[in-house]
Amino acid sequence: MKAILAPDFPKTDKNTLLVAFLSEEFANQTSALFSIAPSENAATDSGKRQLLNQDGKTLLTIGMGAKPNAEAFRKAAHQATQLANDYGYELIVLAVADIEQDRSLATAITEGFLLSGYQFNIYKSEAKAADLNSVHILGSGDALEAAIETGRIMADATSIGRDLVNEPVITLTAEELSRRIRSYGEQYGFEVEVLHKAKIQALKMGGLLAVNLGSIDPPTFSIMEHKPANPRNEKPVILVGKGVVYDTGGLSLKPTANSMDFMKADMGGAAAVVGAICGLAEAKSDVWVIGLIPATDNRPGQNAYVPGDVIEMYDGSTVEVLNTDAEGRMILADALAYAKQYDPELVIDLATLTGASVVAVGSPGIPMMATADESQKSALKAAGETVYERLVEFPLWEEYKDMLKSDIADQKNIGGREAGAITAGKFLEAFTDYPWIHLDIAGPSWRFSPDSYRGKNGTGVGVRLLFQFIQQYGQA
Ligand code: BES
Ligand code: ZN
Ligand code: ZN
Repeated sequence: MKAILAPDFPKTDKNTLLVAFLSEEFANQTSALFSIAPSENAATDSGKRQLLNQDGKTLLTIGMGAKPNAEAFRKAAHQATQLANDYGYELIVLAVADIEQDRSLATAITEGFLLSGYQFNIYKSEAKAADLNSVHILGSGDALEAAIETGRIMADATSIGRDLVNEPVITLTAEELSRRIRSYGEQYGFEVEVLHKAKIQALKMGGLLAVNLGSIDPPTFSIMEHKPANPRNEKPVILVGKGVVYDTGGLSLKPTANSMDFMKADMGGAAAVVGAICGLAEAKSDVWVIGLIPATDNRPGQNAYVPGDVIEMYDGSTVEVLNTDAEGRMILADALAYAKQYDPELVIDLATLTGASVVAVGSPGIPMMATADESQKSALKAAGETVYERLVEFPLWEEYKDMLKSDIADQKNIGGREAGAITAGKFLEAFTDYPWIHLDIAGPSWRFSPDSYRGKNGTGVGVRLLFQFIQQYGQA
């Protein structure tokens, strides 16, 4: 799928659908562009659609409501994509009358079209490509062109995240994840260093090694670095992603249906970090960013770590394992401790960490826990509103620390029945000594049923959020 800025109506033999996104003020202008007038009540009502035929042309109008936001345009783009594919159109020519006024709409529209066109069909013997393969957005000018390009980069980066999440563990082992990170580094132009098992052992990353004990595939620890010549920030921003390439739960085995069956998606945090860094490198961001990905599968193999084990972590502290399914925090803890050596300005980790976070806010929300200051938190929240991956802050009160007290070690790896998303965050906090933000993306990283342009299965959540945040970094 391609999105192109088109100053003029294209001359084409392609089966073409004309589309107008109508907002109240501009309703007449957009339809006049196509010389087809929508009926009197052609609704600018939000989400209302009308199909009109005249002189062999078909115009789809989608009402945008009185004050449409970027998300409404992403969703309208998805509706238009669906309809075009249902009726076999190959090309959409799109008119949005106020697009010159608010160019960020062009970014959102591009995201909506390109993300709606995402397909993961490498394993289908008879994959059918979608009919719709390009969108021409009517308009002109460098600024509009740049806005569309930003949308294109964000969508491509998100597709990288989705591809990684959708890839099953039989192909995407920890080592394969690292190989792909390496090749993305070559393609997009960022540095990659991969620590393999021997090095991870020499470094004594006890958390990562413990989770890996039940697996026959070795763990990896990937380090990505995008360092521009004159970075905006003096100290790096570090992004950490949970890379559990499959979570069986280990000996605390998960049940299959709706629980283990999609646990190839337990590297959604890693996918978000990799996708975002690809996008930032492609956009030639002037922010210095480092990505850390601890990766392994979590399995109940013969030597698997067991409930009751005490593990010495990378930072030298000890953890009593009382549930082997709380593995994400074990590997993230080592990565967070590893991040200290960079003296970071800010560390953000993303992880499909707890079912409790899904119970708390469901798939639309991302619980955030943080020790970073208000300005960093509110900048990230603002980025979340822009890309519609919205954050909600949970507290890290001292009381939660008591819930992690162990009889024989510094911490145990689970809290009690209460506040499961928070005790996971509180556990991680102990491994940080810098401004830090933790995002639990267990809810939004995967969809069992289609959700507009987010699609079905891996959503690539976090990629646009991180990209948007870093692009605005320090400029609030
Ligand atoms: N990967 C899971 C969390 C998860 C749940 C991700 C649902 C995506 C959707 C994580 O490793 C896990 O199993 N967490 C446990 C922690 C518990 C044992 C304290 C959970 O949430 O049940
Ligand atoms: Zn688990
Ligand atoms: Zn997990």
